[in-house]
Amino acid sequence: MAITDIEVMQNYIRMCGDGWDQGWHERNGGNLTYRMRPEEVEQCRPYFKDSPGEWVEMGVQADNLRGEFFISTGSGKYFRNVPLAPQDNICIVEINAAGDAWRIVWGLEKGGCPTSEFPSHFLNHSVRKEATGGACRVIYHAHPANLIAMTYILPLTARDFTRALWKSATECPVVFPGGVGVVPWMVPGGRDIALATSERMKEYDAAVWAHHGLFASGPDFDTTFGLMHTIEKAAQIYILALSAGQGKILQTIEDDQLRAIAKDFGVTLREEFLD
Ligand code: 13P
Ligand code: ZN
Repeated sequence: MAITDIEVMQNYIRMCGDGWDQGWHERNGGNLTYRMRPEEVEQCRPYFKDSPGEWVEMGVQADNLRGEFFISTGSGKYFRNVPLAPQDNICIVEINAAGDAWRIVWGLEKGGCPTSEFPSHFLNHSVRKEATGGACRVIYHAHPANLIAMTYILPLTARDFTRALWKSATECPVVFPGGVGVVPWMVPGGRDIALATSERMKEYDAAVWAHHGLFASGPDFDTTFGLMHTIEKAAQIYILALSAGQGKILQTIEDDQLRAIAKDFGVTLREEFLD
């Protein structure tokens, strides 16, 4: 028995491999964090280091994440290597009682620290935990090419992106009826982009980073991976249709058709995004 035999670790590792297989994680691109359930922490605790690492301040703070444990990809580590050597590429971090610092309790055996986007993940976890009554556990950042391409040709507003994506595939309004937020281009890896992203995540369960990628959230690995996958697939259709039509669209899903989907599938679309 090893820590990597525990179900939550297996599911986390599988998702990293799945993201690599999709082509969303060139080099060290992207990062994944999971807020552990208390029973999962107890399952993993026998494998924790005898002496944990030093506390490292994050530059951000959240009261509702005091004392939580997260699984995180390592900064500069490659998703393609996670299934081969999880102990060297991912880690478990504990959050201190003040909710403003982490320390490594397992993993990254050859050195390293959690993702440089940990401040964004952390604040996103905080706002999504609050918004979902504790259900949200996964924050996933990836670099899917078609969605990034869209950030060069559409106005950088939640309304423009949500409408384009909803109309690119019939299932989209059912999968993300609340739409997607958009963060303008910002320097990655710090407090400012973390704050800007978490503002969007108060309202949306996914946020586009202009010319960079996407943050998606959800209660479990399947739902979160599925959200990333659905948004990127819609982006791909959008780019394919515009490219094939040389910018000309002959027909699309009309707003009343979006309303009809919402009615039959029992979801509430963000009305201000409809014409
Ligand atoms: P990390 O290797 O630090 O996770 O950074 C990758 C990335 O996608 C930054 O936005
Ligand atoms: Zn990135």
